Amino acid sequence: MKALVALILLVHLPTHEAVPAALPAPLRCDDPESEAAAEVAVSYINGHSHHGYKFALNSIDNIRVIPQGLNNDIIFLELDLLETTCHILSPTPLANCTVRSFTEHAVEGDCDVKLQKLDGKLSVLASKCHSREDSREDVARLCPDCPLLASLNNTEVLTAVTAALNDHNGRTADAYLRLLEIGRAKIQYHPVHIVSVEFAVAATNCSVQEAKDNVGACQLLPDDQSNFGFCIASMVMRPLQDLKVDCQLYGHQPGVIYSQPGHDTSAGLLPSVVQGFTNHNLRLSHNNPVASESSSSEFPISMLLAKSVAKRAVAEVAQHDKVPRPVGFVPPPPPPCPGKIRHFKI
Ligand SMILES: *[C@@H]1O[C@H](CO)[C@@H](O)[C@H](O)[C@H]1NC(C)=O
Ligand SMILES: *[C@@H]1O[C@H](CO)[C@@H](O)[C@H](O)[C@H]1NC(C)=O
Ligand SMILES: *[C@@H]1O[C@H](CO)[C@@H](O)[C@H](O)[C@H]1NC(C)=O
Repeated sequence: MKALVALILLVHLPTHEAVPAALPAPLRCDDPESEAAAEVAVSYINGHSHHGYKFALNSIDNIRVIPQGLNNDIIFLELDLLETTCHILSPTPLANCTVRSFTEHAVEGDCDVKLQKLDGKLSVLASKCHSREDSREDVARLCPDCPLLASLNNTEVLTAVTAALNDHNGRTADAYLRLLEIGRAKIQYHPVHIVSVEFAVAATNCSVQEAKDNVGACQLLPDDQSNFGFCIASMVMRPLQDLKVDCQLYGHQPGVIYSQPGHDTSAGLLPSVVQGFTNHNLRLSHNNPVASESSSSEFPISMLLAKSVAKRAVAEVAQHDKVPRPVGFVPPPPPPCPGKIRHFKI
């Protein structure tokens, strides 16, 4: 027994001595630990998103760690994400998804995420996101000829989607496809009038011939056989009409389900959630039900304060750079946050 106590003391003593008087230095946005937390957060966000596209990390805007005890931290992250070209139903891993370029009219996501790091293991407790298209003025200023995002319920967009799906269904030897949702649409007016659309589809239990006989009886395949896909189409309206359609089915992916927006499970063309919008809002607000602490999703006001401090720090560094540097000048360390921009600033 004595030996055991001595052993415990021996094991504990050095740790006690090592406890620093001050708190450890706060995490910086670009620290590997922050990036690891952001990766878990982004994966969680995409895993809980049901419409539109997968989002990739653009920058870590802020991080705040609140120690709860030994090897137990609560981490608040503020992330800036960008829309990729992979639909949320696509099996392509996020690392292989291309971020939409600025000239394609980017969509940005802002997320607040609360994580717990317990014994080195990260889990998301809550997340809150919001997405929006890049400013139309900014895109037009840098790229006057770039077509901009159009409303998902725009009449020309609906016409193009219907024509494209009919065209594909008229040619395919595979299953008759039904529209799940329009992902994004752009309309260019000059020099040619082109409507470009992207939409998610799913196979029904009908062949094209069966659909011709009675389209009303064609149902989406049940979850254990579901087969989702994605189409890209462009319809030239003027001067000459032309239609190009490319649809790809992903094949059955166990566990991947499409949640119909609202109660609109009819053959209705448009999910009601996107009426009048140009993108599916990453309006994700989620408390992780399996997390130990799922009661609150509040994000501390102090994060907002920290954000403005970080902005000021950037401004001060910029100011500093204008002053001629004396010999032997050591530039100040970069501000802890926001972190580096991985793709582009919008
Ligand atoms: C993703 O990219 C990696 C590396 O470029 C490649 O090896 C892999 O096959 C890709 N996976 C998919 C599903 O495209
Ligand atoms: C598709 O499924 C529906 C509902 O189960 C059924 O009524 C219909 O006959 C099926 N169609 C074909 C072609 O199997
Ligand atoms: C699109 O939806 C918005 C909001 O519901 C509505 O005001 C607008 O008239 C719709 N546009 C078209 C072309 O249906």
